[in-house]
Amino acid sequence: MPATVICGLQWGDEGKGKATDLLADRVSMVVRYQGGDNAGHTVVIGDEVFKLHLVPSGVLHPHITPIIGPGVVVNPAKLISEMAMLNERGISTDKLRVSGAAHVIMPYHVALDGARESAAADGAIGTTKRGIGPAYGDRASRAGIRMGDLLEPELLRSRLTAALAEKNAVLQHVYGAAAFEIEGLHSEAIQWGKALRPHIADTTLLVQNGLAAGEHILLEGAQGTLLDLDHGTYPYVTSSNPVAGGATTGGGIGPLQIDQVIGVLKAYSTRVGSGPLPTELDDEVGEHLVSVGKEFGTTTGRRRRCGWLDLVPLRHAARLNSATSVMLNKLDILSGLPELKICVAYRVDGRESDDWPMDAAVLERAEPVYEIFPGWTEDLRAATSVEGLPDAARRYMATIEQRTGVPITIVSVGPERNQTLVRRGAGSAAVHRAA
Ligand code: GDP
Ligand code: IMO
Ligand code: MG
Repeated sequence: MPATVICGLQWGDEGKGKATDLLADRVSMVVRYQGGDNAGHTVVIGDEVFKLHLVPSGVLHPHITPIIGPGVVVNPAKLISEMAMLNERGISTDKLRVSGAAHVIMPYHVALDGARESAAADGAIGTTKRGIGPAYGDRASRAGIRMGDLLEPELLRSRLTAALAEKNAVLQHVYGAAAFEIEGLHSEAIQWGKALRPHIADTTLLVQNGLAAGEHILLEGAQGTLLDLDHGTYPYVTSSNPVAGGATTGGGIGPLQIDQVIGVLKAYSTRVGSGPLPTELDDEVGEHLVSVGKEFGTTTGRRRRCGWLDLVPLRHAARLNSATSVMLNKLDILSGLPELKICVAYRVDGRESDDWPMDAAVLERAEPVYEIFPGWTEDLRAATSVEGLPDAARRYMATIEQRTGVPITIVSVGPERNQTLVRRGAGSAAVHRAA
């Protein structure tokens, strides 16, 4: 049953876009299964840099059917402009399909996200202000509007009328913000429906038919395990399930139809927005990671918080996602650091443990326990094999493998497609085929 899930093992921005692009070579469909335009996935092909937010990274391969699954929340205006950007750059989006069951991010969701964040002041989550939380909230409370509804003007009018009665009251009376007017919103939404009509489909049927025909399908996650609504550092999380389990509900695939899960890992920790980051560095090493690693958000441009690699949440993420292999990215960024630290446990209230604390408040008090490793000075970007990497880099990798019990099958040493080392013999079939 050839379906592969790609998911982030940390706080997002691990390099999932590069992973998808790399593996897309031999698959027929790439399905985004959660999140929305809060994601920013970068793919570098020669001199060209593509920053994708909603369209699955597989779109850059002409043979791929890119699919936005039912678990995604879609801002239609953003989708239309992303498709136009791709078309202008010579990339066809004709094959793109969007689930009719995917929920729509409406302008009032974006307004509510911004208003809640401003009102929360110090308690803000640091969201991307793309309306993600409010849209998923409406989905859960069954007050949402789905992509298929954009094709039904009368149904759309009645759903929007009901939604606005509540949203406008909250926007005006709770936050002192402007209200939305039904006529303008209704006609705008109908225009979105017209533009997207050829793309709106029952994507679960497409995925299931593809699997039945023996096609290989890639499911691309957004965000990362530690931003997962149920398994991350709640409430400093996103409002969906980036974990591999989310690929089933959000992609339209059964658990036993997945045969491998590739966990994408950055060689150090980064986080955008608020919430605990136990290994955060506020010194020259942190500065090195930000500047050499170009750690600025793809979606919001915010400086990412950086720190040492943390194996405590990584063990949790490896198990939770049933990761069958790991793609280790940005190993090149660690070159030149005299010594490297890896967090192997936390000390909380005088007790040491390597179990991931479920509670963000406990995590705030966690002091990292580090193991120290020698660094390396060699520039890794031109490396051609894992065996050719400096001994210190291989020792760093071996520690990750030992502690997680998951093999590292792909090592990335630069943003470009060809700056990728695939370990033969260590991985699964799809990894070898992609090489
Ligand atoms: P995603 O959200 O998980 O897809 O990751 P992002 O695209 O937000 O961030 C990863 C960034 O690192 C992108 O700018 C990539 O081009 C870049 N990148 C990915 N792998 C590597 C690598 O191995 N080395 C370097 N130097 N950059 C990388
Ligand atoms: P990719 O797919 C990194 C973070 C935000 C905020 C929290 C909630 O590129 O890895 P939201 O707007 O989702 O309600 O914000 O989640 N966040 C991300 N951080 N990478 C992302 O996506 C993110 N998407 C959301 O910064 O802390
Ligand atoms: Mg990103």
